[in-house]
Amino acid sequence: MRYQSIFRPDLFKGQVILVTGGGTGIGRAIAHELASLGAQVLLAARKLEPLEQTRDEIAAAHGSASVYLCNIRQEEQITALFAEILAEHGRLDALVNNAGGQFMSPAESISNKGWNAVVETNLTGTFMMCREAYNRCFRERGGRIVNIIVDMWRGFPGMAHTGAARAGVENLTKSLAVEWSRSGVLVNAVAPGLIEGNGILQYGEAMLPFIQAMKKDIPLKRMGTEAECAAAVTFLLSPAAAYISGETIKVDGAYSLWRKTWEIEDHENAPAAYGGFVD
Ligand code: ADE
Repeated sequence: MRYQSIFRPDLFKGQVILVTGGGTGIGRAIAHELASLGAQVLLAARKLEPLEQTRDEIAAAHGSASVYLCNIRQEEQITALFAEILAEHGRLDALVNNAGGQFMSPAESISNKGWNAVVETNLTGTFMMCREAYNRCFRERGGRIVNIIVDMWRGFPGMAHTGAARAGVENLTKSLAVEWSRSGVLVNAVAPGLIEGNGILQYGEAMLPFIQAMKKDIPLKRMGTEAECAAAVTFLLSPAAAYISGETIKVDGAYSLWRKTWEIEDHENAPAAYGGFVD
């Protein structure tokens, strides 16, 4: 199995790129694509096994990846992560903040503990990663940050905590883009819509009817792929995106624009899904 990017093979040759949550789902696809383009990819997350599996997949495809355990809710673990990265690689060129987590619950049943856990992971953890990357690596020599958020433009019923946290990250992206422009740092975000893969299935069988119903509400009438998200991240990290900062690319098949007043019959006319991986 290898990753077939549309970008040129040596695009990130010599670059060191950190992907949080890089062992699974969209993070794994991002890691594969960047490694296939010559980057030394650093995979960080809380659980070792998925990280090692993705690292091994990348190595088997002749890419280069290494793994780091880090809970992004813990400031001292982030400090230690950057110390280790700089000791081992001496540089960091880009950071992809993909790690995140949430659970389904009606808003009225979310405890303070649950709320804080989700906000600490998705908003505070992302902020701490950005701050550390800037202070330790990007302030003097520039860099790129891409934050992965969600399609929360019309609220996020069923997961109000993550909607609020990701909306916070979208705004943080804009603030950092302006503040850190003086150092040549570009800060952008990618907002995936309904994406097929493990990410969506982790919420269990109860999610399946919801997914079917939601597909009807997507103008392109299909789910997106992890590779379609990875491609947007790759573009934002590429030299071609050198004049883009503070922006969010939605990868959602126009879901966020849909209005019930404009009827869209079921169809199969969406451009063919881009899968990234080939045998
Ligand atoms: N993935 C989900 N939650 C995480 C966390 N707290 N730290 C790192 N990766 C994560």
